[in-house]
Amino acid sequence: MEYNIALIKGDGIGPEIVESAVAVLEKVGEKFGHVFHFTAYPAGGEAIDKFGIPLPEETVRGCLESDSVLLGAVGGPKWDGLSGDIRPEKALLGLRAAMELFTNLRPAKIYPALKDACVLRADIVGKGIDLVIVRELTGGIYFGERGRREGKYGPEAYDTEAYSVYEIERIARVAFETARKRRCHVTSIDKANVLETSRLWRETVHRVAEEYPDVTVADMLVDNAAMQLVRDPSKFDVIVTSNMFGDILSDEASQITGSIGLLASASLGSGTRGLYEPIHGSAPDIAGQNKANPIATVLSAAMMLRYSFGLTREADAIEGAVGAVLEEGLRTADILVGEGEALTCTEMTGEIIKRL
Ligand code: IPM
Ligand code: MN
Repeated sequence: MEYNIALIKGDGIGPEIVESAVAVLEKVGEKFGHVFHFTAYPAGGEAIDKFGIPLPEETVRGCLESDSVLLGAVGGPKWDGLSGDIRPEKALLGLRAAMELFTNLRPAKIYPALKDACVLRADIVGKGIDLVIVRELTGGIYFGERGRREGKYGPEAYDTEAYSVYEIERIARVAFETARKRRCHVTSIDKANVLETSRLWRETVHRVAEEYPDVTVADMLVDNAAMQLVRDPSKFDVIVTSNMFGDILSDEASQITGSIGLLASASLGSGTRGLYEPIHGSAPDIAGQNKANPIATVLSAAMMLRYSFGLTREADAIEGAVGAVLEEGLRTADILVGEGEALTCTEMTGEIIKRL
């Protein structure tokens, strides 16, 4: 088969890690008889420097016409001073909206070989960590009305969170369907003791749950969830939550698995086209030094094969190769504990390719 993949390399370590994933995909294509066509489009800081805007029309069109999108990372201190609507992050938010990617899947799983890199106590890690966060991605406070105004104490700013029944229902269904393919348990995370959007969220999730009698559902307040994630993460199978809570909890979940450099994500809409990216950012401190961990991006490419193209064997092959590399003790700097030498980004990529 032939597939057209739009690449957004972006900023910081973005170009290095996207190149790694492309090399892995090319090898997979060779082995399994597929052709991947790659077209790079500018977005984020790179686009701001060239065109003065974070998300050029051409990039949106290219992504909408592709079979799927692979993205490195956008943003960096260079563009921090810019106002909200021309910041690099706007590229990501704009693409999620333009492609109607309302689902963000963020799996967090501990590799047995990496138990030592985990910040949690051995007895906690020993119970296992294998969860997936289903984050709502095109609604809530990220996309609500915002602005500046004169308030009781003078100038103030505001952001608003709104969720429709429709938006909650469709993300809840994704969570229940995801749970059906796993351990059949959904934890819905909200702040229903304070927020009205959370109360509607909770009601709606429970109504959808009736369609899935084989899946159990539990509610958890977000502050408690932040605590439970480090106290006993083995309790979680599928977490479903709003855009902002999902953003925060997924960084926490990534750290308990050892490194943010390992976690992939898939952003999906109602069709098969998706946007795949590591959950980490552009890491400007190590950009251009060939030190980045390419694994999260490589695993994002595997998710693309699985979810957008239905190439299960190929995705398994990539995930297997990553598992083998880690099992053999090969480490990039971010996951190196104690003695030993860290591999560079290109070395790690080469080792993964060798094991495909
Ligand atoms: C993420 C990022 C983005 C988000 C930023 C860069 C806009 O943190 O994908 O988690 O908040 O969604
Ligand atoms: Mn985030």
